[in-house]
Amino acid sequence: MTKLKVGIIVGSTRIGRFAEFPAKWVAEVAGKRDDVEVEILDLADYPMAFFGEERATTAQTETAERWKKKLRELDAYVFTVAEYNHGPTAVLKNAIDLGEFIHKPVGFVGYGGVGGARAIEHLRVIFVEMSAASVKTGVHISFPEYLTVVKGEKSLSDYTHLNEAANAQLDQLVWWGNALKAARTA
Ligand SMILES: Cc1cc2nc3c(=O)[nH]c(=O)nc-3n(C[C@H](O)[C@H](O)[C@H](O)COP(=O)(O)O)c2cc1C
Repeated sequence: MTKLKVGIIVGSTRIGRFAEFPAKWVAEVAGKRDDVEVEILDLADYPMAFFGEERATTAQTETAERWKKKLRELDAYVFTVAEYNHGPTAVLKNAIDLGEFIHKPVGFVGYGGVGGARAIEHLRVIFVEMSAASVKTGVHISFPEYLTVVKGEKSLSDYTHLNEAANAQLDQLVWWGNALKAARTA
């Protein structure tokens, strides 16, 4: 079976960010499956200017091209979603504006006061405009769960319902990913 290529995008570049926990955990969950191969894409490794920025350096412009090229190699995407003032992080929104997701599925793993739900709902609408397909299941890491991980008391993998949600999301990404891949190449 050909494995679907899934990019896990670390959606916060804040020093001391939580985002690395869900990214590594989803990669771990995906690593136990035989239908996906994952790659973590850290936005910290893609320092890009704001879209259309007049003073963008050559390095920033080249990085934006590298970002788009990397996205094109993948068939589906999972985003870690921090909620900043009820929306997604600016660095993630900019990376989306600079990216390309046409006819590919996207899934979200949020965290925060309400499991990142408000930021995720923004992203679902944003991705409609990007001609992407947002899968039904969102993974929402609740604030008490977030705190146990921050304090080092637990890992995300200790939560059965989160593992189940992550696998349900991956199931949907695989279904849509394979269907859309076939349609893209037809
Ligand atoms: C600028 C800013 C705004 C925030 N706004 C929200 C918010 O609207 N809702 C929420 O649940 N958490 C909010 N938080 C708390 C974040 O959920 C928490 O800091 C989380 O760790 C951020 O993700 P990160 O560590 O991966 O950057 C905010 C944090 C920052 C820095």
